[in-house]
Amino acid sequence: MNRDGTLIDYYSQRASEYERIYHQPERQADLVRLKDHLRGELSGRRILELACGTGYWTAALADAAESIYAIDASDEVLAIARAKGLDPNTVSFTRGDAFAPPRDSSEFTAGFAGFWWSHIPLDRLTSFLENFHAALLPGARVVFIDNRYVPGSSTPISRTDEAGNTYQQRHLDDGTAHEVLKNFPTTDQLRPILQPYTDSLNIVEFDYFWCATYALAAASHHQANP
Ligand SMILES: C[S@@+](CC[C@H](N)C(=O)[O-])C[C@H]1O[C@@H](n2cnc3c(N)ncnc32)[C@H](O)[C@@H]1O
Repeated sequence: MNRDGTLIDYYSQRASEYERIYHQPERQADLVRLKDHLRGELSGRRILELACGTGYWTAALADAAESIYAIDASDEVLAIARAKGLDPNTVSFTRGDAFAPPRDSSEFTAGFAGFWWSHIPLDRLTSFLENFHAALLPGARVVFIDNRYVPGSSTPISRTDEAGNTYQQRHLDDGTAHEVLKNFPTTDQLRPILQPYTDSLNIVEFDYFWCATYALAAASHHQANP
């Protein structure tokens, strides 16, 4: 099994219990702040959303966006997202690979991915970003949200590999255990990765989450290699 397949299988198996992560009492106030912030960043946009999962953030953005084209690699999570009954005139859910987003359209004025950055191996970040950017219009707004590592609340890191990726041991209701790559970049680590693509990078830290927003500079919108 390749590393993409392992992660997709894990989330497929976890689909029905996934949104419990959004019910943790200590995170509720932060989630409200994050939602407000995100809606402010993305309202009125035609959004390409990668790794949308069960559509939790798609639903939070649906009435603020002009449209959302949301993709995920797992049929199981997509089934839950589609069952949310979001307005089909605005939102669509399609199976797709976040490392190879749709290239046949140049309609997107924004790109968004929630809790996906943390699962990208460090050695794939640059090619991931270049492929994502190539799917968006020049000047598009790009937004990533993800977890900060909070001792006592986050699942502990079980190991770090030679490239610097960190991993967690996670358990599902069916008793299975899964090792999942989960990175927790700091603002200082995110900045040099994103800076080459923009002159308007804004990274906001909440207690449990971070949000990075930038406008894609025209020069960084080029045809990435597959
Ligand atoms: C942490 S979840 C995030 C889901 C959703 N964005 C959220 O914030 O609630 C990660 C998602 O990435 C999806 N995924 C894993 N590998 C993928 C890939 N190569 N392409 C697209 N989605 C992928 C999983 O199926 C899962 O739904």
